[in-house]
Formats: sequence, structure tokens, C-alpha cells
Amino acid sequence: MKVPFVDLKSQYFEIKEEILQAINNVLDNTAYILGKSVFDFEKNFANYVEANYAIAVNSGTAALHMALLAYNVGIGDEVITAPNTFIATAGAISHAGAKPVFVDIEPDTFNMDSAKIENAITSNTKAIIPVHLYGQSCNMDPIMEIAKKHNLIVIEDACQAHGAEYNGQRVGSIGQAAAFSFYPGKNLGAYGEGGIVTTNSEEIAQKIKMLRDHGSSQKYFHQYIGYNYRMEGIQGAVLGVKLKRLEEWTEKRRNNAQTYNNLLSSLEVITPKEKSYNRHVYHLYVIRVKNRDKLQEYLKENGIDSGLHYPQPIHLQKAYKFLGYKENSFPLAEASTKEILSLPMYPELTKEQIKIVAKSIKEFLVNN
Ligand SMILES: Cc1ncc(COP(=O)(O)O)c(C=O)c1O
Repeated sequence: MKVPFVDLKSQYFEIKEEILQAINNVLDNTAYILGKSVFDFEKNFANYVEANYAIAVNSGTAALHMALLAYNVGIGDEVITAPNTFIATAGAISHAGAKPVFVDIEPDTFNMDSAKIENAITSNTKAIIPVHLYGQSCNMDPIMEIAKKHNLIVIEDACQAHGAEYNGQRVGSIGQAAAFSFYPGKNLGAYGEGGIVTTNSEEIAQKIKMLRDHGSSQKYFHQYIGYNYRMEGIQGAVLGVKLKRLEEWTEKRRNNAQTYNNLLSSLEVITPKEKSYNRHVYHLYVIRVKNRDKLQEYLKENGIDSGLHYPQPIHLQKAYKFLGYKENSFPLAEASTKEILSLPMYPELTKEQIKIVAKSIKEFLVNN
């Protein structure tokens, strides 16, 4: 039996009728861009993350970019974030004209280490982007306290963390604003590109609504030089159908993580550490293991797909060489990239499949 890394098809077949009906409605109404399906989804997603406003855009990267611009982050500013996130977090900071500044991570959660933030603050620091990596919230209380003390904006990168909670509060409602991605493989995935900004500030919500639509709230009158970052109607419709099932799918992911934890507990691997104050939504189930590359190869030979999130930290990427970081700038993040392995994880993954993965890992470890 093969175990794919994700399986978008089985989820689609489960909800096909409802999806086709929702897409049909958009086509019947020729509401291709924004429109009722998107506005309804914005309302429902804001409710879901317990934020006052949600503004739908066409990617998670655009959502981060919009949030930064809405808070006037730009040229000459520095934004503190994690070096082991997806490149888009840093990319959005660069698109805003600002400079990404990294801090090292907690080796157990892989999230940004809040204790290291203050050392990275300079007179140019304007914002912090904590990334809720793999679906687990950063330790937000100390981050919010530091931000308050230094008068910094906090924009949560919740692109991997739909429905995650910190001390019972949904991520996306903790910082001044947050960005979510609806890339198809995400816990809540569109059938194409998509993203959303959430915020409790009416002023920021209004500004982002304009910025995503060429800086205008009235057709052909432009208050800002904006962007074409509007969400498409079909994506709003698809996401609206899927949002109703997100809690059920999240619980399935959490059960799958528990099954993995139980089966891997006696082996020489480190399973994900879920902090007691968190609800981890397991966008990715990431273990740490010595001999990672060989294990990944062995799994592949046995029909099991896995992933690396991510194989090279951002400060060592060619694109960010100009920032001047060197090897060993962030030793914990760098060490993690050599040992992390993302195992298959999705709601439809069966116990049988998880057992096959765990069995293969065990076989490998016994012989290596
Ligand atoms: C942590 C993180 N930030 C930002 C993004 C960017 O989202 P998108 O691919 O929708 O632009 C992603 C997803 O790919 C992500 O995982």
C-alpha cells in the first residue's frame, strides 16, 4: 500500500456534490471576483478565528504583504521573524520594502524563541511576525509583552495554523493582524490560490479592503496606490463549503498525530512537542531523527512519501545572502533542518496507513 504525503482527491470526492453546487452558483451569478461567496466567507472566517474582520485576498503572501503595508511598514524598517519559515514570510517583508531580521528557534516546537527577540530589536524595528509553524501557536504572551514594551506591531503568520489555539484563544485574533494561506494543501485549502487577513481594527480592515482592490473603495477613484490582490468568487465558494468541516478535519488530524505519537514513542525519534497551552492543528507532523536523509530514502523505496519543511533556512538562501548572515548565525534552526522529517498527515489518513509508516521507520532504525 502506498502512503501519499497528502491526498486532496479523497477529500474532494467526499464533498464533491456540495462543491459543484457552490461553484455553479458563482457561475450562474457571474460573480467571478469578490462577490457574495467571498463576502460570506469573510464573515464566517472572521467568526471562526474570533476576530472582528477578515479580508480575503489571493494568497497568504499577499495577506502578509497587505497587513505590513496597512501598518505602514516600509523602507528603512526592520521586521523580526523566524529563519525556518517558508520563504514567503521574508518575501512579504521584502515586498513591503523592509528588512527581515531573524531570531533562533525553540528546538522542541521549532517556533521562534521569544526569549531571543529583545536582542534583535533596534531603533528601526517596526514589527514582529511570529510564525505558527506546522500548525502550533508561538508562545504569544511574551511576544505581545515585548511588542507592547517596544511599541511594535505583531502580525501573526498563521498560514499553517487555521484553528490553532493559544491558551484557548484562536490564532489570528491575538496580534494586531494575522495572515492565513488557503494554498490547496493547507488545513483549509482553496482550489487554487487564496489567503486572508484577520484583524480586530476596523480602520486596518478598511485600508486592506482598498489596498487589495487598487487602493479604491469606489470604482475608478483611488485613495492609495494599491494592488490586484482580490479573491476569486469560486475560491470563496469552495472555502465556504470547506470551512463548515474544518473542525471535524482538525480533530482527525489531531487523532492521527496521537496515533503516530503512540506508535513512535519507543523509537529513536523525537515526536512533535505540543505545549500544554496550545491546540496544535498538525498542518504538518514533523519528527526529528538522526540519519534523516537515509530514512527518507528508505520510506520512499517502501512507497511512503515524506517532506522537508524546510531543507534550508532563509538566512542561508541565495536570495537573502545580501543580509550578511553566515552559517551558525542561528544554530538551533540550522541543526533542525538536518533532522526534521514531515510524515504523511491529512484528515483522511487511516490508522492502517499510519501503522505502515511507523513500521517502516522501525525497520529502518533497527537496521541502521
Ligand atoms: C508559514 C507560511 N507563510 C506564508 C505562506 C504563503 O502562503 P501562500 O502560498 O498562500 O502565498 C505559507 C504557505 O505557503 C506558509 O506556510
